[in-house]
Amino acid sequence: MKIGAPKEIFAGENRVAMTPNSAKALQKLGYQCLIETGAGAGARFSDQDYKDAGVEVVKTAAALWKAADIVVKVRPLNSAAEEKRVRKGQLVISFFYPAQNAEQLERMKDAGANYIAMDMVPRISRAQKMDALSSMANIAGYRAVIEASNNFGRFFTGQVTAAGKVPPARVLVVGAGVAGLAAIGAATSLGAMTFAFDVRPEVAEQIESMGAEFVYLDFEETQQDGAATGGYAAPSSPEFREKQLEKFRELAPSMDIVITTALIPGRDAPKLWTKDMVEAMKPGSVIVDLAAERGGNCDLTVPDEKIETENGVTIIGYTDFPSRMAAQASELYATNIRHMMSDLTPEKDGNPVQNMEDDVIRGATVTFDGAVTFPPPPPKIRAIAAAKPKLPEKTAEEKAADAAAKARAQGRQQIGLLVVGGLLMLLIGVYAPASFMQHFIVFALAVFVGFQVIWGVAHSLHTPLMAVTNAISGIIILGALLQLGNSSVLVVILAAVSVLIASINIVGGFMVTRRMLQMFQKS
Ligand code: NAI
Repeated sequence: MKIGAPKEIFAGENRVAMTPNSAKALQKLGYQCLIETGAGAGARFSDQDYKDAGVEVVKTAAALWKAADIVVKVRPLNSAAEEKRVRKGQLVISFFYPAQNAEQLERMKDAGANYIAMDMVPRISRAQKMDALSSMANIAGYRAVIEASNNFGRFFTGQVTAAGKVPPARVLVVGAGVAGLAAIGAATSLGAMTFAFDVRPEVAEQIESMGAEFVYLDFEETQQDGAATGGYAAPSSPEFREKQLEKFRELAPSMDIVITTALIPGRDAPKLWTKDMVEAMKPGSVIVDLAAERGGNCDLTVPDEKIETENGVTIIGYTDFPSRMAAQASELYATNIRHMMSDLTPEKDGNPVQNMEDDVIRGATVTFDGAVTFPPPPPKIRAIAAAKPKLPEKTAEEKAADAAAKARAQGRQQIGLLVVGGLLMLLIGVYAPASFMQHFIVFALAVFVGFQVIWGVAHSLHTPLMAVTNAISGIIILGALLQLGNSSVLVVILAAVSVLIASINIVGGFMVTRRMLQMFQKS
């Protein structure tokens, strides 16, 4: 079958749904690829690049829609003319936002299209490779930091120079979803002091692992279980919101850059950065409101515009960050589409099979076989494993009693072992010669002490432990070398074996340590 990508007609949209790279992969799935002439120009892919990748370049959008059995796009259909091109049984794949686009959904059903909305791909592990919302949000988060730094008249990183000391920029990221985490990554890598806040407490660890500081609220709220809402946040209570705003008011004067990404699907963006917070910020500070398209997290955001307030704070409300990095965004989006096609083509024979039993395909399909199939049933697999029910916290006395009981049990076990060992020694001593017993007792004690030292050591400490065993191996080699000149053949053989085994231990230890160190080195 033929799969085609028309040129995006939304004003200012530079992305394209098929790149030369993705086209090659689609051809391996058995499809013939078509592209409208000039469709990749905004993302710096020429018609020639497509031809070189084996793609047929079609002159007009009308011809492409007519020839293609499957049409892939970035933006939802953007005009009546574009909608009219859809024909019965055609598979169309693009962003759709069905909850906000109910009328178009009806029209697509009437046209008989089988429509897959890339924004409806469920956020489950298996579908991550098709998660276009995440790949675009990742770009938006990164670009938000770049736009912020472009509009901020200072360094992000702190410096000590001959001309003076420069403090690092202080960046606050509100909402640590995909876009927020990408912004945290970009800001910390530029050297800024980054702070982040999210209503989902489970992201605190991710925030901290990226080198940012999680802004904790002194507030107990139990409803924020991301698993129950498909990995998304649930709306917070008015009390929580008040506490949150109080914290932001406290932070506003000290922040140079604020990047807001807070969103709850299907709702307008919550207002979290109020007018008085903007007024409390220093002149030259920058706010980037990634939620501008949904009304903005900041009271003063103007969607699609960059404004400067009276107190000199720049507020950026652009809604096209991925399109501003069109080459990268197209490559990632086209790869998402390619993975979707791969799931739709199990036989790799160029014939899509829309298996409505498949969680991902079912979730993303919004019209099928002349019917509206949105909203989908909840996915069978939950986005995040539900947290295990917590056992009631133990009191300090109970914890102390538990520890004492554990220590007593361990003590009893050790005494038992010593008694058994002592009896064994006695038994051997009855038969063995005295000179043997002397060495044997030292050997048995060494084994016992060694066991006590090594047992229970955390895995993360095994490398330092290996360094110690290398020292022990060194002593063994030395002793064995001294014995190599011995007149007894048996002693010489045993000494040679000791040298061999201890050497293997030392060399192996070094190799493992080297590999572990390499894991922490930046390439
Ligand atoms: P997401 O749903 O993964 O993340 C949103 C985060 O906000 C979640 O972690 C959620 O817990 C948090 N949140 C919700 N309510 C909050 C509150 N009251 N306080 C603090 N945190 C709160 O969404 P994703 O994919 O990261 O996108 C973030 C935003 O970026 C969205 O508004 C999206 O529309 C926007 N976006 C904008 C683009 C642009 O060009 N301007 C491009 C791509 C995404």
